[in-house]
Amino acid sequence: MRRVLVTGGGSGIGRAVARDFAAGGDHVTIAGRRLDALQETDGGRGMECRTADVADEASMKALFDTPFDIVVANAGMGRAARVADTSLDLWNTTLAVTLTGVFLTFREALAGMKSGGRLIAISSIAGLHGEANTAAYAAAKHGVMGLVKSLALEVARHGITCNAVCPGWVDTPMAETAVANVMKRFDIGRDEAEARVFGQKPSGRIVKPEEVAAAVRYLASPEATMVNGHGLVITGGET
Ligand SMILES: NC(=O)c1ccc[n+]([C@@H]2O[C@H](COP(=O)([O-])OP(=O)(O)OC[C@H]3O[C@@H](n4cnc5c(N)ncnc54)[C@H](OP(=O)(O)O)[C@@H]3O)[C@@H](O)[C@H]2O)c1
Repeated sequence: MRRVLVTGGGSGIGRAVARDFAAGGDHVTIAGRRLDALQETDGGRGMECRTADVADEASMKALFDTPFDIVVANAGMGRAARVADTSLDLWNTTLAVTLTGVFLTFREALAGMKSGGRLIAISSIAGLHGEANTAAYAAAKHGVMGLVKSLALEVARHGITCNAVCPGWVDTPMAETAVANVMKRFDIGRDEAEARVFGQKPSGRIVKPEEVAAAVRYLASPEATMVNGHGLVITGGET
């Protein structure tokens, strides 16, 4: 049975990824700061729920007290702000969770990972191109892509792959918060706020968390053994 770790498993994409692996018969550990959210993801599926802060080195060292075959670095955060309005605190927090959190997750995972292991980051299309009003988030996600591509070269000879998925907007609490903030800030209705936040979508909709989970499942599969250092875009054609 494969042992899988998903950080940020208490909601959104992490929840869908964790449930997808559990449905496939894998032993799944989910990590995050809120135990109640992790337990809700589990919902009797037999997952191991571990509280951890991905930005805290000691916390991450403690999380890897057993080895994993598949590690999904999903935890991340971002808040809209123009560069001129981005406080140093917001900048540092965004990089600590969204970039350094992935570094700590992967570094700790490497110690116990055997040939066939999989390191998968949930990046974003914000890691591939610039996005006005979210520079700290985009900088962190670009950093994730640099980490993934570099680490892939280090682990390839050990039979391990390191890849990322790069979704556009996904229907999760993060997207809901962005829409709610725009509704409040501009005093507009949901339809207009969704149009402003999500923009025009070739497919007419944003991505479902389960569609990201399916891409992660592929990257974790034996069929993806020669896919390494890649960022798999999931946008329905937007990028
Ligand atoms: N939604 C989108 O449109 C979208 C698009 C592209 C990429 N992404 C990326 O997908 C990932 C998941 O996002 P989501 O949309 O599912 O957002 P979400 O619902 O807000 O989930 C984020 C998860 O990360 C966890 N987390 C945050 N800070 C943490 C920390 N310091 N330590 C441990 N866990 C932490 C949260 O749990 P706790 O609060 O309990 O710790 C939460 O479970 C993120 O990396 C995000 O950047 C999202």
